[in-house]
Amino acid sequence: MKLSHRSLLKLFGYLLISLAAWYLGYFAAAHVPQNAISIDALQEIVKKPVLRAPAPKRQKCDHWSPCPPENFAYRILSGAGKQRRAKICFEDEQLISEWNYDIGSGINIAIVNYKTGKLRSTNFFEMWRRDQSREMMNFIRNAPVGSLILMATHDDGSTRLKNDTKKLVEELGSKEIKNIKFRSSWVFIAAKGFKLPDKTVSEIHFSFCCAVTNRLC
Ligand SMILES: *[C@@H]1O[C@H](CO)[C@@H](O)[C@H](O)[C@H]1NC(C)=O
Repeated sequence: MKLSHRSLLKLFGYLLISLAAWYLGYFAAAHVPQNAISIDALQEIVKKPVLRAPAPKRQKCDHWSPCPPENFAYRILSGAGKQRRAKICFEDEQLISEWNYDIGSGINIAIVNYKTGKLRSTNFFEMWRRDQSREMMNFIRNAPVGSLILMATHDDGSTRLKNDTKKLVEELGSKEIKNIKFRSSWVFIAAKGFKLPDKTVSEIHFSFCCAVTNRLC
């Protein structure tokens, strides 16, 4: 069969279009800005295929699988940039969420009773426009023995953070508090007066970009 001039042109056109489409896809994949992908977003992508299996059931604090019965489920998510605020979930209760306080940058803290799993108090401490290091120390010191202390940065939690406050957080087991920088993303869980279970990842720190999640039982 002989192709006419016209159909050759058409064929060439199709080829060009599919090539362009392929290239565009490649381009988009290669040029997604890296710092726009939070760890959480990556986890969303990874978890997608699992959702095709049996009826997807939502777990406490958006965990992927249920925690053993005698464990608390929690999830600490740092803020990202100015806009995305920190979130702290404990036993499916949003102790600190995007909605429950006015705009502030700094360190968010929730204190929970380790025996009952009930919330004792929450607060956040500005470290950019004001120095609330002293208030933060008082808040931590006032937590009774037997408390879990959950912390997460939003925007900037380091600029005005005083050394003696860092020392207090270090005494709670933090290895990273002295390393956090302007707009570091940092999450931390500490136990006051007792030891966390061995498998606990108590702290995550990234000195750049994205939100970090600590999501464990
Ligand atoms: C705080 O600690 C850092 C590092 O140890 C030190 O360089 C700095 O001088 C200290 N700042 C004050 C005000 O003591």
